[in-house]
Amino acid sequence: MPKPLNVAVLGCGFMGRTHSNAYSQVNHFFDREHHPVLKACYGREEDRAKLEAFAKTWGYESVETDWRKLVARKDIDLVDCCAPNFMHHDIVIAAAKAGKMIVCEKPLAMNLAEAEEMVAAVEKAGVANMVSFNYRRVPAISLFKQIIDEGRVGRVFHYRATYNQDYTISTNVPQGGMGLWRLDSKVAGSGVTGDLLAHSIDTAEWLNGPIQRVVAHTETFIKERKHADSGKVEKVDIDDACMFLALFENGSMGTFESTRYARGRKNYSTMEINGENGAIFFDLEDPHILEFFRYADPQTGKKIEDHLTGWQRIHVTNSEHPYMSHYWVPGTTIGYEHTFINGLADFLAGLEGGPAFQPNIRAAMRTQKVCDAVLASARKGQWVEIE
Ligand SMILES: NC(=O)c1ccc[n+]([C@@H]2O[C@H](COP(=O)([O-])OP(=O)(O)OC[C@H]3O[C@@H](n4cnc5c(N)ncnc54)[C@H](O)[C@@H]3O)[C@@H](O)[C@H]2O)c1
Repeated sequence: MPKPLNVAVLGCGFMGRTHSNAYSQVNHFFDREHHPVLKACYGREEDRAKLEAFAKTWGYESVETDWRKLVARKDIDLVDCCAPNFMHHDIVIAAAKAGKMIVCEKPLAMNLAEAEEMVAAVEKAGVANMVSFNYRRVPAISLFKQIIDEGRVGRVFHYRATYNQDYTISTNVPQGGMGLWRLDSKVAGSGVTGDLLAHSIDTAEWLNGPIQRVVAHTETFIKERKHADSGKVEKVDIDDACMFLALFENGSMGTFESTRYARGRKNYSTMEINGENGAIFFDLEDPHILEFFRYADPQTGKKIEDHLTGWQRIHVTNSEHPYMSHYWVPGTTIGYEHTFINGLADFLAGLEGGPAFQPNIRAAMRTQKVCDAVLASARKGQWVEIE
């Protein structure tokens, strides 16, 4: 018998849509006892028309413009925070106190201090929780992890990540308002570090283990922008670009680069690992492809490279590939939205006796810690150790 799971989604923008889609689709592709029910969604009173249109499009039973009232509602089992970053702390803590399951978008918080309070509240309440670092659930990135775990990369020397976009180059782009709240430090916390590098750090530590120390440089190219709310030209406090070097606990070196000023790059998230036995490369703008270079046999460590060796382009659509057996026939692709469906399917599996979901709120606090260390290093101009 299906078990209804009553969901409240807070925030009806980009992520509100991807999460609503995942709740609607998950039972079509994954056999799960829990069946999400779109009970209610939250948006601000000033956005009521948009909120009601959103509710109608996705089939929500009700709307709320007071999120505290929504979180306290007895008919809600799971609170899903898709609101801008400055709201995550209060929403997650209120949801934990109300005993609700929690899904929270990344970055977990505005800073580590907030993240620690959130973890304390959630762990005290003992509620199931997940943070939406959805890129782990791109099948090619899951395969990246599988290849490392199979020992096919061996001792790692280098890890390299980029996350580049180009949508804020114009001086006419305001700060504040829909989508562009990301340029307002009071709402976003930080710039590309929390918004984009948080993803790169989450996948890097998942694939290559903990980062021990970092040294960073950040840049704000456009120092003042008109604020959409006040209409006044105000100082920009977020990092437009960030580059950092990292040393991993396994002895490998990492480079991380992120900017919103890479003309031509839209959502260019790449990762590459170079080890003794092999190497792997992934580019999110070509998400079905994983590139793998095989140098040595993982069992014997002996060289197998010969005149036919080269980078293998794996089209990650076979039923043997992570998640793909749940979708279409081999050779047919899935999309960005499926990373959220895959994540939700794993979260529900965790409720039904499967492995506990990762990354949870504690794992996301760790990513927040690395982000804070990166920003502290850029401020101080020196290496920062991460415990
Ligand atoms: N996992 C990912 O890849 C990913 C991608 C994009 C965004 N995010 C995260 O998801 C969250 C939401 O981002 P988004 O892209 O959906 O943003 P968005 O601007 O598209 O939507 C945010 C929604 O929050 C509400 N909102 C906006 N400003 C508000 C305010 N001041 N007070 C109350 N409500 C407000 C509105 O309903 C709006 O529709 C952020 O934490 C962001 O970092 C994650």
